[in-house]
Amino acid sequence: SGKGAPLTRHGSNPDLTVIDDENARVKEFKDPTTIVVVGASGDLAHKKTFPALFSLYYHGLLPQRFHIVGYARKALDLEGWRSNILLNLACRVLDQKDCATKMEEFIERLSYMSGQYDSAEDFAKLDAYLEDLEDRQPTGRLFYLAIPPNVFGSAMGSIKASAVAKNAWTRVVVEKPFGRDTESYMELRDQCAAHFQEEQLYRIDHYVGKEVVQNMVVLRFANFIFEQLWCKENIRDMHIIFEENFGTEGRAGYFDQFGIIRDIMQNHLLQVLAYLTMERPKSLHAADINRVKTKLLSEIMPLKAKDFVVGQYEGYREEDGVPEGSVTPTFAACVMYINNQQWEGVPFFLTAGKNLHNRKAEVRVRFKKGHSMDFFPGEEVGNEIIIRIQPDEAVSLRVVNKVPGLAKDLAYTSLDLLYKDAFEKESKDIADAYERLILDAIHGEKSLFVHDEQLRISWELFTPALKELESEDSPVKPVLYTPGTKGPPEADDLRHIHRAMVE
Ligand code: NDP
Ligand code: BG6
Repeated sequence: SGKGAPLTRHGSNPDLTVIDDENARVKEFKDPTTIVVVGASGDLAHKKTFPALFSLYYHGLLPQRFHIVGYARKALDLEGWRSNILLNLACRVLDQKDCATKMEEFIERLSYMSGQYDSAEDFAKLDAYLEDLEDRQPTGRLFYLAIPPNVFGSAMGSIKASAVAKNAWTRVVVEKPFGRDTESYMELRDQCAAHFQEEQLYRIDHYVGKEVVQNMVVLRFANFIFEQLWCKENIRDMHIIFEENFGTEGRAGYFDQFGIIRDIMQNHLLQVLAYLTMERPKSLHAADINRVKTKLLSEIMPLKAKDFVVGQYEGYREEDGVPEGSVTPTFAACVMYINNQQWEGVPFFLTAGKNLHNRKAEVRVRFKKGHSMDFFPGEEVGNEIIIRIQPDEAVSLRVVNKVPGLAKDLAYTSLDLLYKDAFEKESKDIADAYERLILDAIHGEKSLFVHDEQLRISWELFTPALKELESEDSPVKPVLYTPGTKGPPEADDLRHIHRAMVE
């Protein structure tokens, strides 16, 4: 069979039915839809939301009858705003044909309206404008909130009061951060719940939409060999790594209030951990996946400050928007344990840092050494699966091989599945996570969005440790590290200590 050739499917396996249903959903979706980007003057809207919408447009994935409207407080000149958006649009490698024409067409279809977020009157004006655009036909409305969380509540109140769809669905997409701790999350949750039902709220964690993160469920549950090996009897530890080789990139004001643990670990890396360790879902339906993810999260042992190493890169405090003497961590490493039969005693390491030596996100699954010790007694790592989320998506397996030749030398080598080779065409065309997520929100498909209960649990896990770390007498203080390095060496020590404990 050829690379990526479709499999012939037999029987009525519910997982395959879900895949078929999903493919049909994409083809058959016809609801007229209006997308309102609230906060359309901002960074996220320009960098991610509009480029993703353009890509969906390019690929013919937006409904035939669609409207896109930007809304924000600034009274922007339409042409100037459109030109700024145009600057950020891009076509993927395979999409160069008609690229410029499609961009022009897309841009012409964008309109902009200014108004306050907390004004029901301004949203009533928006509503009147949308009604005209929609020709007074029932049209689903997707409100994408690309605004800071302190205005989520008032914007939702205004939408609810004045701008919900008539005789069609209304959905609201919200971006992280969903609070700073359990308390603020619950407040935010109540504000959202006062205006919209849980099924109308789509909370984005864009890591969940990444191609390789999606593949984790398939790798684990569609491959007998992995499913059998995936437990404490065989796995020694896992390490989920997020590294960026740049700093806060003009977002220091936001970043300093949150820090790396809230920015990356409590959401992106924890979601990846859930996909890696959850039990097999009954099917690939959103409700079944959410059930096992939530169960897994509730089985993680609460974190304490002593489970962390935190760091701050040199020069961070001098950046615009960072208060003098800030102790906000730009690097964190921690260890987690899961209190269930499958994972009891296995350490899970999470590392996240800005301004390091590399830009990458990957997972390393280390297997117990077993008999390989007989061949390589001094080797630190035995068999290992590396799942590279980005860049250069890949899955590789480290195995012992005989080195070819008359001598009987052995060596560790790697069985590599590089997406760029295995899926030569498709890998040039991997959709940005935001495209997948926005498309799903338009279609009302919730499996890749974060459930309310999962957020509550994840904040309960992290809040006590964050409070301890942020207290005056915290036992763990940020260690300064040099930009462009691997971060504080204390993080390696943390892993060595926990590995030694389970050996
Ligand atoms: P911005 O700071 O660019 O804000 C977006 C827009 O919101 C601004 O253009 C401004 O529009 C309005 N705004 C800004 N501050 C306030 C305020 N204090 N009160 C009322 N309105 C305000 O944010 P981003 O675009 O970077 O982020 C939007 C959301 O997405 C946030 O929740 C952020 O955490 C999240 N996010 C952002 C990412 C990114 O890469 N930028 C990545 C992941 C999540 P106007 O003044 O015209 O009303
Ligand atoms: C965002 C964080 O959620 O994710 C940023 O707020 C970070 O600080 C970004 O840079 C990383 O996303 P990606 O997709 O570029 O790895």
